[in-house]
Amino acid sequence: MSGTCFVTGGAGFIGCAISEALAQSFERVIAIDNLHPQIHPVRARPAALASGVELIEGDVTAPDMWDALLASARPDVVVNLAAETGTGQSLTEATRHANVNVVGTTQMLDALVRHDALPRRIVLSSSRAVYGEGAWRDAAGRIVYPGQRSKAMLERGEWDFPGLTCLPFEATRVEARPTSVYGATKLTQEHVLTAWGLSFGVEIPILRLQNVYGRGQSLTNSYTGIVSLFAQMARQGQVIPVYEDGMIIRDFVYISDVADAIVRATLNGTPTTEPYDVGSGTATSILDLARIIAAHYGAPAPAINGKFRNGDVRHASCSIERTQSDLGWKPRMTLDEGLRDLCGWIDRQLA
Ligand SMILES: NC(=O)c1ccc[n+]([C@@H]2O[C@H](COP(=O)([O-])OP(=O)(O)OC[C@H]3O[C@@H](n4cnc5c(N)ncnc54)[C@H](O)[C@@H]3O)[C@@H](O)[C@H]2O)c1
Repeated sequence: MSGTCFVTGGAGFIGCAISEALAQSFERVIAIDNLHPQIHPVRARPAALASGVELIEGDVTAPDMWDALLASARPDVVVNLAAETGTGQSLTEATRHANVNVVGTTQMLDALVRHDALPRRIVLSSSRAVYGEGAWRDAAGRIVYPGQRSKAMLERGEWDFPGLTCLPFEATRVEARPTSVYGATKLTQEHVLTAWGLSFGVEIPILRLQNVYGRGQSLTNSYTGIVSLFAQMARQGQVIPVYEDGMIIRDFVYISDVADAIVRATLNGTPTTEPYDVGSGTATSILDLARIIAAHYGAPAPAINGKFRNGDVRHASCSIERTQSDLGWKPRMTLDEGLRDLCGWIDRQLA
């Protein structure tokens, strides 16, 4: 055990999940988190944050916070998790998202330079949102980027791009073309860190996470976490409403598998500028997800309602072969196991 690790946003869902492994691997782990009220309705240290982790209550966008911290601690490694993560919310609160996700990161980088405290590595938790709709294949086998579904298409109930078949994301094959402000800020964060890291000789492993779910996720933040939202509805015997035709596709990856990938990238990973895709590698429709959760609780069958959310991508899943081989990582939890574990945890929280 040696060295110091900073974890920005370290009191959040993912920060807590990696905290024990980091506390066992570093002499000192410092979580920097402003305990944002949307995530932390009770402004207190989360019970799930490992006791070996020091928590600094501070805002990553504030240069004074960084100056005070770096006066007494220097990181060997930084795990950069702090972010505003509401995809829908980012459309109407773009400045808030850009400020934390982009300026928060640049404030950190400037402070590291100002204090001559460059770490050897900064790990970034990026997002599948950077891909937008990603790449699709047309009838002639050509790869096309259809961009965002228009409001008119959605109002007509035209959910898919006619004649096109969607492909899984893979950072070396699929271009990032975000269709949300959140996705754009995460891509900017990737670009800023990569350019800075190459200039200063700091390694910047980037992990593009798919839909992370599992124990420890917020049960109150209505802007993220469809899985916990569905589970709470089904638990109360409600009919889960399913948007569009139920065939929106996502890759649901369990929190312990994501934590494992981040810890590996923090401690071992090979330096590369190609982002890694972190998912289960399995594409699941929202209707299937809702059915499994409804069945678990004995709730009525989910109802497809044909509603839509402007800006939602139709298809998001990924290939994980390169991530598996480079990080020596493998997702362990099946969706069934993960949902059982999450539902059991929710039951205990709400009992
Ligand atoms: N959970 C997912 O499904 C998912 C998917 C893709 C990417 N990600 C990325 O993973 C990272 C962590 O996500 P999470 O699910 O743990 O989110 P989370 O909201 O649970 O955690 C984020 C933490 O950052 C803190 N924070 C917010 N603004 C801050 C600021 N200005 N200064 C300091 N701290 C601040 C919050 O208080 C919170 O504890 C984010 O960068 C997110 O973009 C998450």
